[in-house]
Amino acid sequence: MKILITESIADESVKYLKDRGYEVEEYLGHTQEEIEEHIKGFDALIIRSATKVGEPLLANADCLKAVGRAGTGIDNIDVKACTEHGIIALNTPTANNIAAGELAVGLAFCVFRNICDANEGVHTGDFRRGNWTGYELEGKTVGIIGLGRIGSIVARKLKGIGMNAIAYDPYIPAEKFDRLGVRRCQTLDELLMEADLITLHTPKTKETYNMIAKEQLYKCKRGVRIVNAARGGLINEQDLADALAEGQVAAAAIDVFDKEPSYNRKPGEQEFDNVLIHAPHCYITPHLGASTVEATAKVGQGIVELVDGALKGELVAAINMPQFSGSMEEIKPYCSLAEKIGRMYFQAENMPIKKVEVRYRGELAENSGTSIITLSLMMGLLKGMGNDHVSYVNAAENIEECGIEVVETKTDSIQKYNNLINVVFFTEDGRELKINGTVFGPDTEVIVSFFGYEMNCPLSSTVLAIKNNDVPGVIGRIATILGKHNINIASMHWGRKNQDGSDNPHAQAFVAVEQAVSKDIIDELSAAEGVLRVSLLELE
Ligand code: NAD
Ligand code: MLT
Repeated sequence: MKILITESIADESVKYLKDRGYEVEEYLGHTQEEIEEHIKGFDALIIRSATKVGEPLLANADCLKAVGRAGTGIDNIDVKACTEHGIIALNTPTANNIAAGELAVGLAFCVFRNICDANEGVHTGDFRRGNWTGYELEGKTVGIIGLGRIGSIVARKLKGIGMNAIAYDPYIPAEKFDRLGVRRCQTLDELLMEADLITLHTPKTKETYNMIAKEQLYKCKRGVRIVNAARGGLINEQDLADALAEGQVAAAAIDVFDKEPSYNRKPGEQEFDNVLIHAPHCYITPHLGASTVEATAKVGQGIVELVDGALKGELVAAINMPQFSGSMEEIKPYCSLAEKIGRMYFQAENMPIKKVEVRYRGELAENSGTSIITLSLMMGLLKGMGNDHVSYVNAAENIEECGIEVVETKTDSIQKYNNLINVVFFTEDGRELKINGTVFGPDTEVIVSFFGYEMNCPLSSTVLAIKNNDVPGVIGRIATILGKHNINIASMHWGRKNQDGSDNPHAQAFVAVEQAVSKDIIDELSAAEGVLRVSLLELE
């Protein structure tokens, strides 16, 4: 498989992909149009903040399965369009928090202590330190807009040097403000009017774009200082330049522009300008927030592992999948079990279905990740229907297109098993076919009921589901046929029905085998005396 990297990531991360057999092309320093042309034939794309993944790129992406953003912000990815194209969108939302938080703190010192101007002066022979007298941060008030991951780090660090911290973030609970010892501002205006330093840490969205413009700048204290190491465009660049020139804002430090330059080209290789580059007391860094050795290694490794997992069809935390608060590792075995149950249906039964009910029982019912387990079941069902392009991001849409309704229900009542997935397939001819499964220990997937037969069968990749008359000799005949064709039986499990005096006792066998079973062998088994039905369940 082929992976295109359009913005640089750590060499070890590139090597990680090559070592796993991927054909990797580092296509750095190219224009957006060139990237859009070049994307054809690639299975995955790895980007940072400059490459835009939207309809123009996706329209040309003939086999793209995953887009990996080595970093936090996803404002350069049209996530909805990715979902529509069935493309998994990934990022590494925590890997560079510390680096970005530390840069914001560094820029805070820069706007109070004239460090950059003094450095420049010294290098031109000017040692008159009186020109660069600054202000102390201790005792001043920092106003943090956006108290998420990075905003919280900045709060912790600036409080550590004695600043009073206030914040505006309408989306997080009061408890978090209390925990961080940050006073909550009910409105943005309240923050603007009180802060000596304003630092922005929100994502770039329709709501936050230009959230600080002329009107807001003039609500601030005269001589306010501003840091933006979040996203360009949160502050109106022209309005900030004017306010700096006029003295309303004493100094600003900016790590990000609304329209970003290429960060790989040498001086003279691109034409780039921005009004803030010419504004007085405006200190600019070239999107350096995540540029530490530690963060580069973490985002690079984080994203290549996710992309590798996504390309292998594994469950990975994607942006365009239901978000949940629990641990992915905890639900993985249940996802794998659910996918196998989904795959089983059309291998064991021909009748179309109109509805599937997935019922979670026991502790599992409390898990916030059940919607992802349900998606796994849908994926299995669709794969069983021959859909090779289904992924976690388009499974729900594809199932809906097939006209199958999927409902999820939960009950915490425990019967025999601590955790149980109960799946009911409602067939078009009015039957309700049930498959129930659970996970023993860390990851042993077990079917405990199949189409009405109670059993206890650990799953493997290839299983023969054999329905037979429950009379002496049938097992022997099945084993003899398989043995004759050199097929090793790994395990055999039975569920039985009607044994109590009925004249029609029958059983459902699950025979795990270790070699491929051809159609001729299935036919031979089906024709054996006492065998009623044979289905080959290929579960991986
Ligand atoms: P986060 O999602 O953890 O936090 C963002 C916070 O902003 C959330 O708590 C959210 O509730 C809040 N928010 C959203 N809309 C708001 C609004 N209108 N007013 C006030 N608050 C609002 O994100 P994060 O990981 O902390 O990242 C913060 C920003 O930093 C993002 O824009 C990210 O792209 C950027 N970033 C920049 C660099 C860099 O190199 N400069 C590095 C990493 C992240
Ligand atoms: C991010 O969102 O992670 C940052 O912008 C860092 C980057 O990608 O350069």
